[in-house]
Amino acid sequence: MDGMIRHGLWIFGAAALALGGAVVVRAQTSERSVWSGVYTAEQAERGKVAYAENCAACHGDTLAGIDVAPALVGGGFLNNWNNTSAGDLFSRIKTTMPLSAPGSLSGRTVADIEAYVFQANAFPAGTLPLPPSQPMAAGIKIVPKPAG
Ligand code: HEC
Repeated sequence: MDGMIRHGLWIFGAAALALGGAVVVRAQTSERSVWSGVYTAEQAERGKVAYAENCAACHGDTLAGIDVAPALVGGGFLNNWNNTSAGDLFSRIKTTMPLSAPGSLSGRTVADIEAYVFQANAFPAGTLPLPPSQPMAAGIKIVPKPAG
């Protein structure tokens, strides 16, 4: 009896391991980056309006930065965020910006603004909107443009 239970547990453990392996493989093959089309053009349009209202006074109309407010486009910005995720940038904006009223924007507005920032950085638009929460956007990597 004892032996059978142990045997059963062993089989269960092996099955769980195999399943875990399958999940890891799937996560890797389905990994998305900002180059896979992770926002919609319509969302970026809304984001442009919200950016003008909430961000442009400090970061500039062209996102080029003013004084201490850094640029949100170009090499320096992309370098700062290299190998992070859309989720990381989402929480940075959601929790610390606008600097004058952190946390005042809804998740949807933050996602719209992030879509506009992505568009300004020449990331391609796609068919699905950027999701309005940190965990949902965590799987979207910010990486340099893949070759080819
Ligand atoms: C009152 C001025 C002000 C406003 C308004 C403002 N920011 Fe900022 N922002 C700053 C300053 C100053 C910094 C750098 C210091 C810091 O990180 O707090 C910054 C930093 C950032 C960073 C980090 C950039 C990097 O490369 O690390 C992001 C992203 C950002 N802001 C996005 C936004 C967005 C999006 C909005 C509008 C929702 C916004 N900010 C509104 C002043 C502002």
